[in-house]
Order: sequence, then C-alpha cells, then structure tokens
Amino acid sequence: MASSAWLPVVVCALLMMQAVPAARAARAFFVFGDSLVDNGNNNYLVTTARADSWPYGIDTPDHRATGRFSNGKNVPDLISESLGSEPVLPYLSPELHGAKLLVGANFASAGIGILNDTGIQFANIIRISKQLTYFQQYQHRLAKLIGPDQAARVVAGSLTLITLGGNDFVNNYYLVPYSVRSREFSLPDYIKYILSEYKQVLRHIHGLGARRILVTGVGPIGCVPAELALHSLDGRCDPELQRASEAYNPQLEAMLAELNAEVGNGAGGNGPVYVGVNTRRMHDDFIDDPHAYGFASATVACCGQGPYNGIGICTMASSLCADRDQYVFWDAFHPTERANKLIAQQYVSGTTDYISPMNLSTIIKLDRHLHD
Ligand SMILES: *[C@@H]1O[C@H](CO)[C@@H](O)[C@H](O)[C@H]1NC(C)=O
Ligand SMILES: *[C@@H]1O[C@H](CO)[C@@H](O)[C@H](O)[C@H]1NC(C)=O
Repeated sequence: MASSAWLPVVVCALLMMQAVPAARAARAFFVFGDSLVDNGNNNYLVTTARADSWPYGIDTPDHRATGRFSNGKNVPDLISESLGSEPVLPYLSPELHGAKLLVGANFASAGIGILNDTGIQFANIIRISKQLTYFQQYQHRLAKLIGPDQAARVVAGSLTLITLGGNDFVNNYYLVPYSVRSREFSLPDYIKYILSEYKQVLRHIHGLGARRILVTGVGPIGCVPAELALHSLDGRCDPELQRASEAYNPQLEAMLAELNAEVGNGAGGNGPVYVGVNTRRMHDDFIDDPHAYGFASATVACCGQGPYNGIGICTMASSLCADRDQYVFWDAFHPTERANKLIAQQYVSGTTDYISPMNLSTIIKLDRHLHD
C-alpha cells in the first residue's frame, strides 16, 4: 500500500530526471583571438593568413580544410566537446543563423594581435576591436531570435575564450630586426603597453555581458619551428622570444587578478570572471619531454619545408609527416590535434599551475544551475 502510493512520485521523479538533461539549454560559447582559435573566419576574407586548403584538416572526418590551423580539431573544438556542445561556427559563416546562434560564435581571425598594427602584413583581418563590434552585432541578432531578456541570459551564462598576444611579439615586435615597435619600446615597456591595451579589451568583453572569460597567456613562442628555423642551429628555443613570454605571462596573471577585483563575481554571482590559462606551461611539458607524452618530435613541424619544417607555410607542396600524432607541431606555428587534446585536457582538469583560479570542470560544476 505504502509502496504503491509512492509509485507515481517515483515515476514522476524519473520522468523529470530524463526531462531535465534534454531541456537543459547548452551553454553558449564565444571565442575571440588569433589563428590558435580561428575556426574559419579568414576563409571569408582576402588575406594570406588562411588554412583553407589541403593538407590542413587532413585528419577531420571528411579530410577537408576548414580554416582551422590544425590537422584536425583546435582548442575551441575540444572545449565545445567538454561543454557537450557542437563546434561553434565562425561568425562570418553563412550557416550561422537561427538556432545555431544559441551555440555561440567564433570571432577569431588568424594574424591579429592586441595592437592594431600587429599582422598588418596579412592585410584584411578582423582586428580585436572589430571582433567586439561583431559580438555586439551577434547579440542584436540573438535578441531578434529569442527576445532581449533571454539573449542577455544566454550571454551571461556563456563561456568565453580569448587567445591573443603571441602575434604582438612574433608578428610585430620581433618580426624584423629593428622593428618600429622595438625601436619605440624596450621589451619591458612594450609588455606594459600591450597589457594596458589588453586590459581595456578584456573590460570591454565583460561590459558586453560575458561573465566567464578564459584568457590564455603566450606560449613558448621561441620554440615554434618557425623560430627554430630562423634562430636555432641545435634545436634550442630562441632565448629572446622565450624571455618575452616569460616576462609577459606573470604580468598578465596579475592584470587578471586586478580585473577580477574590479568587476566582482562572475556568472550567477559566483567565482571569478577572468580565468588565466597558462598555455606556456601546458606546452612546455611536451617541449621538455616529448617522449613522456608519446611525441617523437617537439621541434620539427609535421607540414612545412626547410630546417625543422619551419620555413614558409604548409601547402600541398610541403613535406608532410606520415603520423601526425607523433608531432607536437602541425605547421611552423600551430599544434597538432593531438597536442591540442592534451592542452584542452589541462583546461578541463588541470591544477592551478595550468589554469587559475579554477579549471573548466570546476566552472562547469559551479554554473550548472544556470543551464537547467
Ligand atoms: C584600433 O583601431 C580601432 C578602430 O579603428 C580603434 O577604435 C582603437 O582605439 C585602436 N586601438 C589602438 C590601440 O590604437
Ligand atoms: C580541476 O579538476 C579536477 C576534476 O577534473 C579536480 O579534481 C581538481 O581539484 C580541479 N581543480 C584544481 C585546482 O586542481
């Protein structure tokens, strides 16, 4: 008697348990930055910074180039997977309309930096201020679709990733000896300058409604095959570029702490808005001991030409490795899908040495109630 009286309650509870995950709105994901996170915006632009032809994308299911600077997935794709979402479309993609807007948007554009003069050699790219303008435009489109209140909720409950800064060294300050910026600034002053500009960009993204923002540092830019080809006879990383990223990263962390103190709590009134991602540390692990991670090489690019396969761009005429999983670097600057998977794993469950003040799995747990 007692047990049958309970039965409808149990059935109800079971039905609800099934209904909740199905009804849970996936978390929107927004991406800003450069080629490390571009999902194909540059395909729609007249620029030389592009990855839309073979062998880029060689390890995707249909082996087609998408504009990602990888043999397969890049870090944003892997973060989407950890959110349980489909990959985010490039903002310029004609497929980004209707319900697809709820998944988020990727505004990144290969070649850009914090500064407007970074990447000028690539001509027509989407500089960071333009990416923010597109984010506003996106929100107007979303509001038309689901109404302004609901649109604001989607943005407030979203996750944002921004990867910027490497090009301000590689494709600006150190692009040529005696570059304009290196004559204008000492390295310490240049770092202060770009971080003061970056701080405004990061404030602006918060101002546009984002409440969880992953901000990556600068990786081991002196160790990429392109720099080894130019500066290294023995495979050792370029000390000057390494020094730049070593000086920049701790100051970025300090700036994020200042911003967190300034803007208060993040999504749902809990936890930080800005989360620092130590990509330098993530990448250093493979460079210091590639074999420990199953890589045969952390110095030679899979696709390219010349020393370390680090000269020029990856094209169908390049020398191409057979087993991409054995290489840390896909081309002269960008990691392989397998390296990206290991990097993304640290985003998800790394200690505070890799991502701080908290990792993505902690953020997802913290924000679960926002997506019910
Ligand atoms: C970059 O250009 C944009 C658009 O022209 C401008 O609003 C912004 O202030 C510029 N940033 C810097 C650092 O000069
Ligand atoms: C990061 O993620 C894992 C779970 O995946 C968790 O156990 C760990 O405590 C998290 N945080 C830190 C700071 O390591």
